[in-house]
Amino acid sequence: MAEAKKRLFTGIQSSGTLHIGNYFGALRPFLDTYQDYESFLMIADYHALTSLKNPGELRKNIFDVVRDYLAVGVDPNKAVIFQQSRVCEHTELAWILDCLVPVAMLELGHAYKDKVAKGLEANAGLLTYPVLMAADIILYDTDIVPVGQDQKQHIEYAREAAKKFNLAYGKTFKEPQEKIQTGVAVVPGTDGKKMSKSYGNTIPLFGSKDEITKAVMSIVTDSGPQTEVENLRETGIQSGNFLQPLNLGRIHTLLKSKEELFDLYANNQNNYKAIKEALIEDLEAFIAPMRAKRESITDEEVRRVIEEGSAKAKAIASAKMAEVRQKVGVSL
Ligand code: ADP
Ligand code: TRP
Repeated sequence: MAEAKKRLFTGIQSSGTLHIGNYFGALRPFLDTYQDYESFLMIADYHALTSLKNPGELRKNIFDVVRDYLAVGVDPNKAVIFQQSRVCEHTELAWILDCLVPVAMLELGHAYKDKVAKGLEANAGLLTYPVLMAADIILYDTDIVPVGQDQKQHIEYAREAAKKFNLAYGKTFKEPQEKIQTGVAVVPGTDGKKMSKSYGNTIPLFGSKDEITKAVMSIVTDSGPQTEVENLRETGIQSGNFLQPLNLGRIHTLLKSKEELFDLYANNQNNYKAIKEALIEDLEAFIAPMRAKRESITDEEVRRVIEEGSAKAKAIASAKMAEVRQKVGVSL
């Protein structure tokens, strides 16, 4: 008999318009591996409530996240795509874990500390955010959790919560492992710094040709020595000595090999316009099919994917919670 696949679980808290940095740093690595596992992709809408208090916006974000994932090629028949709030076992387990996890540990949470330091409202949900996240993960006997570096501590907390439960009530939960993408290039933004929605230096993943053109035309090409050093320090990427200017070359090599680009760059050393025009064409060729797919996905289709996925998740979560209720002593 074939060995059962390990379980992969990840959650997405909608973070606005995706950019090509998100694609190459997070989505593509997910696409490359999710089929090797029994994969769960959860829309973390209850986590979003810790900071978002606008119902219309939250609803739109839920549709958008699912549409984004379908558009980049996640197959809903090969991953369980579901909505956290539809599986009430998540908040139920979070409460039980809340009764095991020390407040002092949560007060040390990086995300909590950062938000408080920025003067954001410290609601109780912000403090217990990692407990709900632990519940999300361990409810499914998850083996691995692909996340960005910023989420590493949350996975440590999930292991801690699983351990505390197992210690109190007997072995029930697996201790999950994070899978941090290493060796993924940090995609530079149009100003040469890390591409990030908070720096306003992005190339949007589903951008129109006009948006792509505008972004590429604004790419800084006269990177002085200092900027190049900063780039290298921030990204660890070695400067290829023929792919100048640095920013254009680094974005371009995400789409084409250095061999394919050699002539273009060698023949246009002082003609950034020609290189930019070529980059626009290559970005358009890469983005257009995803953009078209995204536009073709109806709200009904998204709703169906969420309903089917949530029913599958619910079946697993409710069986696990029956065991948990039994163990803690509330099942009569
Ligand atoms: P942003 O910096 O735009 O706010 P997020 O923090 O929401 O992006 O990142 C979501 C995911 O995309 C994370 O896994 C992160 O590592 C990845 N990512 C974001 N920006 C880049 C980038 N410039 N290069 C590579 N990966 C990135
Ligand atoms: N906190 C995660 C983020 O902001 C989202 C998330 C919620 C998550 N639950 C999760 C990620 C479970 C992985 C596993 O990115």
